[in-house]
Amino acid sequence: MSIRETDRIVTAHRQHEGAGFIVRRPVPTQGLPLVDPFLLLDEMGPIDYGPGEAVGAPDHPHRGCETVTDILDGECEHEDSAGHRGTLRPGDVQWMTAAAGIVHSEMPSRKIQADGGRVHGFQIWVNLPARLKMTRPRYQEVAAAGIPIGEAPGARVKVIAGEALGVRAVIDTLTPIVYQDWTLDAGADVTVAIPGDHQALVYVFGGALRVGDQGKPVGDGQLALLGAGDTVRLRGVPGGETPARALLLAGVPLREPVARYGPFVMNSEQEIIQAARDFQSGRMGEITRTAAVG
Ligand code: CO
Repeated sequence: MSIRETDRIVTAHRQHEGAGFIVRRPVPTQGLPLVDPFLLLDEMGPIDYGPGEAVGAPDHPHRGCETVTDILDGECEHEDSAGHRGTLRPGDVQWMTAAAGIVHSEMPSRKIQADGGRVHGFQIWVNLPARLKMTRPRYQEVAAAGIPIGEAPGARVKVIAGEALGVRAVIDTLTPIVYQDWTLDAGADVTVAIPGDHQALVYVFGGALRVGDQGKPVGDGQLALLGAGDTVRLRGVPGGETPARALLLAGVPLREPVARYGPFVMNSEQEIIQAARDFQSGRMGEITRTAAVG
């Protein structure tokens, strides 16, 4: 067993996204354009909206990547050009493989738009290898009750992708991906096997924890890029703000050229131009709205 230590710590910056909501974004950030295969990590909120204040991301396309939405607080209504629609509630996860192209909208629920409320969650973009970029879109949505939970003394993990504490995720990924949401009390000490060919990171979004045998502390809003090894060790910090909250993400790097422009992530500029053309000419479809909504 070889424990991964922290190679580098990056602090998230604040950024406006969509129609103007604020995210904490550790990736991409200056000097860190991606953590292959992860293209983007956005923490939405937490923010408390007043009535009429909540904004989202109205109709927009994606091509060449997957978007993962993990709602912790609030409600997000989504619709897409493939006919999927629904409301994500706390604990629900949506794993959308945009692949060749999809148009979707991601909005706070009408209730939150009207009455206000707390919104907190994550959106993560996973890159697709060249061989899968132009395949059919796919959509997976799992309600909170269907997300497997692993437990150890002082620790709890939502296993969204991959495996931890003997629990295996129900979401199927096209490339090997680990996505785990950890809650660690002070003194909790857990290890997770992450194969040596994966690139791994830990993003802390509450409290602080120690990573690796060296126990480098990682605080709220910080991302730790982990070095070589086959095991990740996480420890809750005694005396710290508890519980600590963190995402553990890992995947096998694609090591392919990345050309990105807004919501399109391809391998070459030419493919980006083609993506913009295909979207403008309606080849990624549109969202069919059958009834006017108030
Ligand atoms: Co989107």
